[in-house]
Amino acid sequence: MKIIGTGSALPTLTVTNDMLSEILDTSHEWISTRTGISQRRILSEESLVELGVAACNEALQNANLAAKDIDFIICSNTVNNYVTPALSCIIQGEIGADCPCIDLNSACSGFIYALDMAAAYLDSGKAKNILIVCAEEPSKIVDWSMRETSVLFGDGAAATIVTQGNSLKSMHLTTFSAIQPLYYQRKLEYNPFNKREEFKPLVMNGKDVYKMAVTASINDINCVMQEANVTQQEVSYYLLHQANVRIMDTIRDYLGEKDEKFPKNIHKYGNTSSASIPLLLDEMNKDGQLKDGDLIVMSAFGAGFSTGACVLEW
Ligand code: ACO
Repeated sequence: MKIIGTGSALPTLTVTNDMLSEILDTSHEWISTRTGISQRRILSEESLVELGVAACNEALQNANLAAKDIDFIICSNTVNNYVTPALSCIIQGEIGADCPCIDLNSACSGFIYALDMAAAYLDSGKAKNILIVCAEEPSKIVDWSMRETSVLFGDGAAATIVTQGNSLKSMHLTTFSAIQPLYYQRKLEYNPFNKREEFKPLVMNGKDVYKMAVTASINDINCVMQEANVTQQEVSYYLLHQANVRIMDTIRDYLGEKDEKFPKNIHKYGNTSSASIPLLLDEMNKDGQLKDGDLIVMSAFGAGFSTGACVLEW
């Protein structure tokens, strides 16, 4: 597998911490010191489909491919307005592709799981060019009256095109069922025969998530570096899921690494779930920050609890 194109799209509306302080009992000081977030983009006028399509078109252009060149589309999405059809099917039609599509929900770890799935398809020869699009609107699952969760997230979409190659050096995925630390129970239609109507907006036990994320990420990173036979000196960048700057700093300190190896965009976009790593990758690609041969470690963690990491050569 080899990455040959990236793209991204963000909502036009920027919601600053000060704007949130007008509707919630919170402050810029609390949010920025606890999470590293200063602002986030929130969908208002546009739809998630429009963001996903824009990100895909940009990635296609960056890869110098047409939509018809894509053999498979994987869309990582936690929630969107359509329960069916899958978001990938809607995006496929809008960009003018005609290949099979599938949605994948591994919450914030979705991009790593999608890379793993793409690698399997490429290795088996079932596909040559795969489009991965991570399109997320957590703003639709948080309760905007709850300051504990609503300040953390932002909406966004990022796309990555992968083709056959040998840039993926190692991959490690872990899932252990732990619902209570982080979950959202969607409200569905009324069923007169069902007595167990259950619905909860996003519930998060921040301290548990923090501990699980740090432990899992350090373990995953050590695992993929060992498997790829890569030393810390050889790693150019660690691209971590942009959940919270304190989680990232703890992982950095544990590894004893330099801060400049940990690019971040959480201050601008908040936690965009599975879109956070490919958004960062696209920003770095556009800025010319990535050089041929750079070794990148990616690590993501999220609800499930699902985690994954990989080592990739750019
Ligand atoms: N503004 C002001 N005060 C707040 C806010 C807010 N937005 N949110 C919570 N508080 C209050 C709490 O009510 C509490 O008040 P109290 O002491 O009067 O009861 C106080 O701040 C301290 O709350 P704590 O939960 O102890 O705050 P903590 O220092 O642990 O920080 C945080 C909370 C940032 C969520 C932390 O637990 C954390 O970093 N957890 C990781 C979770 C995370 O980052 N999730 C991201 C999404 S999940 C994912 O992507 C995997």
